[in-house]
Amino acid sequence: MRIGVAYYPEHWTEDRWPEDARLMREAGIDVVRVGEFAWSRLEPRRGHYDMDWLGRAMDVLAEEGLEVILCTPTAAPPTWLFDRHPTMFPEDREGKSWYMGSRRHACLNNRPYRRYVRRIVRELAKTLGNRPEICAWQVDNEIGCHGSGRCYCDDCEQAFREWLKRRYGTIDRLNRLWGTAFWSQEFNDWHYIPAPRRTPAGVHPSLALDYERFTSASYRDFFNEQRELIEEYSGADRPITTNCMALHTDQVNQFAFAASHDVAAYDNYPVTPAWLDGTALALDLTRSAKGTPFWVLEQQAGPTLIPASAALPAPGQLRLWSWQAAAHGAELIAYFRWRTCAAGQEMHWYGLLEADGSRRRRFGELAETISGLKEAAPAWEGHLPDARVALVLDYESMWALRADAMGSGLSYRKQVAEWHALLRRRGLAVDVVPPERRLEDRYDVLVVPAPLISRPQVAKRWMEFVERGGRLLVAGPAGYRTEHNTWVTGAPPADYADLLGLHLPEHDVFASGGANTIELSGETFDVDCYCGLIEPSGIEVLGTYGQRFYSGTPAVTRSGQGRGAAYYLGAVGGPDLYGRVLDLVLEDAGLEAHPWAGEALEVGPLSPQPDGARLTFVLNHSADARELELPEGVECTDLLTQTDYSGAVPLDGYGVVLLRR
Ligand code: GAL
Repeated sequence: MRIGVAYYPEHWTEDRWPEDARLMREAGIDVVRVGEFAWSRLEPRRGHYDMDWLGRAMDVLAEEGLEVILCTPTAAPPTWLFDRHPTMFPEDREGKSWYMGSRRHACLNNRPYRRYVRRIVRELAKTLGNRPEICAWQVDNEIGCHGSGRCYCDDCEQAFREWLKRRYGTIDRLNRLWGTAFWSQEFNDWHYIPAPRRTPAGVHPSLALDYERFTSASYRDFFNEQRELIEEYSGADRPITTNCMALHTDQVNQFAFAASHDVAAYDNYPVTPAWLDGTALALDLTRSAKGTPFWVLEQQAGPTLIPASAALPAPGQLRLWSWQAAAHGAELIAYFRWRTCAAGQEMHWYGLLEADGSRRRRFGELAETISGLKEAAPAWEGHLPDARVALVLDYESMWALRADAMGSGLSYRKQVAEWHALLRRRGLAVDVVPPERRLEDRYDVLVVPAPLISRPQVAKRWMEFVERGGRLLVAGPAGYRTEHNTWVTGAPPADYADLLGLHLPEHDVFASGGANTIELSGETFDVDCYCGLIEPSGIEVLGTYGQRFYSGTPAVTRSGQGRGAAYYLGAVGGPDLYGRVLDLVLEDAGLEAHPWAGEALEVGPLSPQPDGARLTFVLNHSADARELELPEGVECTDLLTQTDYSGAVPLDGYGVVLLRR
């Protein structure tokens, strides 16, 4: 377990640096992240570089034995850059441009901006990149944040056309695959293809989906271009990554993006217990992006500027959130930030030190957390969460639905979040995987919300998973669209029809919930915004619709295949319905909810130790103390305090235990 912190030496006078470095070492910090946002100091005027000060700061850190994650400063282009190139600002769909005075105010596809980016990154890598204290690189910062993730400027439009040329080869092929005869949208040449700007009626769904793909790919290119320069000038022996934001930037496919990163990374601001489900999902997604331990490049160190039910973390909460990241697989946790800023937009986004440089309550709590994490880490390092369940996150189905949600208000992200929360609240560790991920025998259950896009290869992989004994659950609209976001041939669920043993000849959508119900296991559940009408072929019907003219027809089905089964829930519903269906599937798979797990009690089982021992994190996200009852005759040890328990394990409010049994 390594601990880091974000440090901005340019915000403080040089005579303070040694004191900061000394305090960092005393607090147990190993790694310091520097350089992001420092462009105006590193290149104060066009072509005039001054990197000496950062070198001196790195010397000071190195003298205390601290390592450095060197960040490229490209998320904060300096004001002088815009003198010559006023077209660098990103544009929204309405054609409105952002302006200077903040950060992330340059379009990543803007050609002059990219030229300047290459220069500053080359210079940084050449001048400072070979220093021995550098242990890793961070490219840019939170690519796509602040809603800057989608730009519609002329440069993006041009880059989109080039991307389409490479994808489709000829304009005729694009016209045919998109079906552009609809509303006279045929293109005679590439240069007629628009970015999906503001239009009176909806944007063509094929164009909309490809724009998302293009945007996501262009951010990866932006990263890779910097990566290549870093490797060219300072070698390829240190990990290069960037701080991602999981589903907060859902225009960037995290699986594809992480393929360019040596280690997956995330910025973690749990903020409030109300966000617990979302935090757990983000951490699981980050870990699953590469299937290896990940880095938290920013971990919350105090109150933030995000309005929450309680903005000031209570004593114990910052500690708990750090442990939560570790429990989900973080091997490096870097706090944001060392010292609270005394000026600028983030004066009230607090660091370990106060703005006046003093150490108060939060510092004490985090210093203790750091030593606790480091001391206990050998007990669990190398053991990731033992995920017997995988949840499929299909960016392309999410984007396809965003472009055209079949008239429903269906939110793909909400579906993913709801299924994940239900699994988490049952104490089951979850991997979040892309549809094409190889499954082998790693999982017992695969949950697939709204796989709108039909893919034969994926259907084959899922069928093999089921035949080998897996349980697959598909929920909501499935197999309606081709990869071009046009209708599939024949009836949905197209490629998934054999797997699920059914067709969906029609569907019903509703503006709001409660317009239909499902009868399942003697209970009635409300449906939300979509009902697929199911035509089963020789499969078991477990539940039926309760209202409308198709009342009594199948709504929940089970299709036995080989040694396993594929379940289908025809409707989009809510947690009650989903929870009931999930329990049927889990029972069939022989998986049990953990008796302690719940909304505020997080149970995180880890993969078995070589001697067969089982380690389980238990995190109490509420302020109330708990008693965790142990089954008769069971004994366990809390590895954080080396205390043996039988009967029950006491757990403080905001407490953590790591139980071995
Ligand atoms: C992060 C960002 C940091 C800082 C922090 C607090 O999202 O990467 O640079 O801005 O939030 O706002």
